[in-house]
Amino acid sequence: MLKIHTELVKKYFYTKYKEIVTLLILILSGTVVGAITPLLFGNIIDLILKKQLYFIIKNVMIFFCLSLLEIFLGVIEAYLGNKIVLQISNEIKKDITENIINMKMAQIDQYAKGELVNRVEGDPEEIASTYISFFTGGIQISVSLVISIYFAVTFSEILTGIALIFMTLSYVGTLLYKKQYQKAKKQLKDYSDKYYSEITENFRNLEGIKSFNLQNTIMERLKQTYQRNFCLSKRMFFIEGKINFTKNIGNTIFETVLLLSASILIIHGKLSIGNLVSFNQYISNVFNSSSQVIDYIMRLNACEVNIKRIEEIKAGFQEDSSNDKKSIDKVKSVKIEGVDFKYNSDNILENVNLKINSSGLYSIIGMNGAGKSTILKLLLKLYEPVRGNIYINNINYSELNLRNIRNEISYIPKNPVLFNESIEYNLTLGKLVKREELEEICQKVGLDSFIKCRSGGY
Ligand SMILES: Nc1ncnc2c1ncn2[C@@H]1O[C@H](COP(=O)(O)OP(=O)(O)OP(=O)(O)O)[C@@H](O)[C@H]1O
Ligand SMILES: [Mg+2]
Repeated sequence: MLKIHTELVKKYFYTKYKEIVTLLILILSGTVVGAITPLLFGNIIDLILKKQLYFIIKNVMIFFCLSLLEIFLGVIEAYLGNKIVLQISNEIKKDITENIINMKMAQIDQYAKGELVNRVEGDPEEIASTYISFFTGGIQISVSLVISIYFAVTFSEILTGIALIFMTLSYVGTLLYKKQYQKAKKQLKDYSDKYYSEITENFRNLEGIKSFNLQNTIMERLKQTYQRNFCLSKRMFFIEGKINFTKNIGNTIFETVLLLSASILIIHGKLSIGNLVSFNQYISNVFNSSSQVIDYIMRLNACEVNIKRIEEIKAGFQEDSSNDKKSIDKVKSVKIEGVDFKYNSDNILENVNLKINSSGLYSIIGMNGAGKSTILKLLLKLYEPVRGNIYINNINYSELNLRNIRNEISYIPKNPVLFNESIEYNLTLGKLVKREELEEICQKVGLDSFIKCRSGGY
């Protein structure tokens, strides 16, 4: 697993190292500024007890300025952090989408469409934010821990010792739930795959749902899906609750012990009230930091689920669109020789032979589901035959360039290919065609006046 983490960091985070370093510097500055304020606060309390107004005002002003600086650094830090997370998650999304688009159809068939949407949309953001929190949080926590423990020790070694023992105990306590947490997270992820598939399926089939009066059935199915979400989320909340309970019980026992021990030290003149206030703030920094460490470890652990899902997509077989293969100018002959094909387990085509040696209008006739479209999909190299060979211009398919084949052979699927874009985009499909040329073609096929009547025109 460590290898996957390293590869991911190398690929997406190294290129952003300048921004990440800037973010780290900001965080470090914020942490250092934040680490001085408790000391000042304790000092002010002791000054109040000594009634030294001039020094009180001076210290309060410094305290105010430092707090402002801390807020300012915090705002920039949040902005930069979010920006980096967004950039990185977009890059991961782009890569996965490219992987999916170039994946072999046989592989894509194994996923429901919603499941793919969920993997592109959900996983990258979680990965990017977990890693950034881990890097930046890690630095922040380490610095904050060192400074806070240093100051805490200067106030009281005994009290710091007690705090560290409690902190270790609560850390070990929560780590006990690591496996449960990861399992619950995996179940929730699998659920969301199914959920997105169901939702996209419902919207895609709206016409059918209405025609067959399936509204109630669909809503019943959706109700069950939400019920499952409720059960799985409940389990997740329960585990999170157990983790928080363990942490908070530890903290409460610690605070009680601390209060009693501090009282004894103050009564014996070994600690001032101001010292206790400062110490308390430093120790709560230590506790917060350690609880964040646990949080990050849990998140990084749970993030393995997201990474594995993305890796699974990346490991999928990609189409071979290498340029070092042969190209043809125009299709002159097509030969299908002894082809067998199956999508899953059932044979769809068995020993299919076909020869077309001259140009003309040909049709393949057969019963529904006989495999006519499948033959065309094989010609387009969307799928590969299980047995047999296909030749175009007497060149074996395996030697031909994939993009070239698809440029020379077109297949218009039964379901229309429509993009939520302008008519022009849908007609040219991204290719550079001059507007006059497009209008001329549309005039020839009688589409021009129809398009011009639409509110948006072309
Ligand atoms: N992606 C797929 N996964 C699994 N089975 C598939 C897939 N596409 C098609 N099939 C099955 O393969 C068989 C052949 O399908 P095909 O679409 O080639 O038939 P067809 O002859 O074009 O039918 P029609 O006349 O309805 O267009 C059918 O039983 C169909 O259900
Ligand atoms: Mg068909």
